[in-house]
Amino acid sequence: TPNGLALTPPMGWNSWNKFACNVNEKLIRSAADAMVSSGMKDAGYTYVVIDDCWQGARDASGNIQPDASKFPSGMKALGDYIHSKGLKFGIYSDAGTKTCGGFPASRGHEFQDAKQYAAWGVDYLKYDWCNTDTQDAQSSYLTMSQALQASGRPIVFSLCEWGNSKPWLWARNIGNLWRTTGDIFDGWDGMHPNGYSMGLLKIVDMQAELAPYAGPGHWNDPDMLEVGNGGMTDSEYRAHFSLWAMFAAPLIAGNDLAAMNAATKAILMNKEVIAVDQDPLGIAASRVWKDGDAEVWTRPLKGGGRAVLLFNRGNDARKIAVTWEQLQYPAGLSAAVRDLWQHKTLAPAKGQVSAEVGRHAVVMLTIKP
Ligand code: DGJ
Repeated sequence: TPNGLALTPPMGWNSWNKFACNVNEKLIRSAADAMVSSGMKDAGYTYVVIDDCWQGARDASGNIQPDASKFPSGMKALGDYIHSKGLKFGIYSDAGTKTCGGFPASRGHEFQDAKQYAAWGVDYLKYDWCNTDTQDAQSSYLTMSQALQASGRPIVFSLCEWGNSKPWLWARNIGNLWRTTGDIFDGWDGMHPNGYSMGLLKIVDMQAELAPYAGPGHWNDPDMLEVGNGGMTDSEYRAHFSLWAMFAAPLIAGNDLAAMNAATKAILMNKEVIAVDQDPLGIAASRVWKDGDAEVWTRPLKGGGRAVLLFNRGNDARKIAVTWEQLQYPAGLSAAVRDLWQHKTLAPAKGQVSAEVGRHAVVMLTIKP
């Protein structure tokens, strides 16, 4: 990626999954406060991203302005506040004529908007794909990429094209992350009644072939986290978070950081799982075995170890094993085994490791020779 940013997957918070269009400066400030006071910042979360619906009308010179009733102090002041907490400031626009929420978007104003964001201290731009008519995705995203470069400020560029034109094939030199799917919703499987949002399992299946396209500076984005939003069980949320870490996905929390219960905190701030997500090699996991509802995903870690996810999608507990052959280890190799949710070192193993995995659950391990 030309900007040299996001050498590990970006971590942060975004307003959309929980608050949708109900954004204002008080909400964003308190999200920044909570990111620090909850320990999320110390766990590695950095970007505070305002999603859709912040925009007001353009001024007489065409400069984009926030809706002054939602952001009376203005975006520069909000960026300064976020920076004063040691965090980074993210914002949202869209490549078309209007955002998905119907607010002014960036088509024809790309360089002007990028300059404005830089003046506000923006560090991250999520760039959506509504109301793009017959626009070509690759050239539209390239234009904004060039505009961000020209702004003179390092700005992480998040493509939100939903995967329809396979951005993993062309975006690695354009942006730092690209959505691989339509929107997630806070449920285990199936489609939302809205007809477009997908449950977790649907999103997961769409990642199975994409591992080769991820790497330092350019990541597959299976959409933001729903952990803590209430639609899934804690076990399902552990699966969600573990899968995202295996995918080397951006970890963008989408819950109310000011109102997290202990279980939500333990998931979002599991430092051992986060370390897998942030492994410097940046090699995403592949699904190396599947038998009905049981799956094994593995990814290589720096130093020769592996992260392993034993994943049970089904309604009944079952035993799942990972073999040394699947890990591409010689049969006689002895390795240390760590359970990343129990936070326990298990007995050293040779040849294979197996575990009982509950309904809609994971066992996540590191295996290190
Ligand atoms: C569609 C995107 O996929 C969502 O993540 C969110 O940004 C909405 N648009 C906002 O309108």
